[in-house]
Amino acid sequence: MIVLGIETSCDETAAGVIRAERPGHGEILSDVVRGQVEAHAAYGGVVPEIAARAHVEVVDEVVAKAMADAGLGFADLDLVAATAGPGLIGGLLVGLTTGKAIAAAARLPFRGINHLEAHALTARLTDELAFPYLLLLVSGGHSQFILVEDLGSYRRWGTTIDDALGEAFDKTAKLLGLGYPGGPEVEKRAADGDPTRFAFPRPLADRPDLALSFAGLKTAVRLAAERTDPLDAQAICDICAGFQAAIADVLAVKAARALAQLRSETGTDAPTLVAAGGVASNRTVRQALAGAAEDAGGRLVVPPARLCTDNGVMIAWAGAERAMAGLEDDPEITARPRWPL
Ligand code: KG4
Ligand code: ZN
Repeated sequence: MIVLGIETSCDETAAGVIRAERPGHGEILSDVVRGQVEAHAAYGGVVPEIAARAHVEVVDEVVAKAMADAGLGFADLDLVAATAGPGLIGGLLVGLTTGKAIAAAARLPFRGINHLEAHALTARLTDELAFPYLLLLVSGGHSQFILVEDLGSYRRWGTTIDDALGEAFDKTAKLLGLGYPGGPEVEKRAADGDPTRFAFPRPLADRPDLALSFAGLKTAVRLAAERTDPLDAQAICDICAGFQAAIADVLAVKAARALAQLRSETGTDAPTLVAAGGVASNRTVRQALAGAAEDAGGRLVVPPARLCTDNGVMIAWAGAERAMAGLEDDPEITARPRWPL
């Protein structure tokens, strides 16, 4: 089936077209992502009102480009899918309304997709990944371990008690005077830094559960920056390296724990860890997770970088998976800013 997916839940206006055959055999026909980085850069984070207006301005163009890149017209589609939540209400309404309008005009079925479910399933587009597996979703808005038991069956095993991990990267970058989004900036500086110069905490690493916390780490970074004189380019690189090392350590510990739980609960002896979300493109984080997966006798799967961050392809794929499996969805679905899996 050929599916158009539209994503507008945060600060990317995205549309993608795929041909879905079966898990592991999806083909990406187009993938258009229009970011809003410049619009939010001055504020160091996403401003909901600005985001909603930016989505309205470009959504038609983004969808038109996705269709043109795929070389298709709406009549060639079998399904239209759009993110229905969770996310910022203004953006969700823009994408949903656009998707529903296209579906109605072209007499196509429509599905409103849970953004988290889409992140959870993306790896199955290109990988014949069997259920169950463990998902670590680490983005600007989410940091959670999710057991993906089956299509439509998810259990949240742990989440952050304060900031999302991407947010921690963004805030750290901001207080060090680096650009937005902060993750790639911090990673770049960390490459030239000494991760042992600053001893940052490993929040909740000793706690025997899968809860995460990053607010304390951010405070430790702020104190280090305030106490370091001169706070020169090298000191900034060292702080970035220390911060990133602390995060990699915590994620490795928690991932090892989650994989042990996956082994004991499902009896699998080769547990799979899937990492998704913007932070999953961080190489130090990936290495730490790959090590944890290997130690657990399993493997780490990370979708290609552009499928890790928000995109329309993942929404199309989630719609296709649900449709192919015959799962029922409400075509009248409205925006759901809060929609836990
Ligand atoms: O998944 P995503 O594109 O959007 C959502 O938040 O849904 O994730 C964006 C987040 C931002 O906070 C950004 O700073 C972070 O992912 N990020 C990174 C890297 N690339 C993006 N964090 C660490 N290292 C990176 N290389
Ligand atoms: Zn996302």
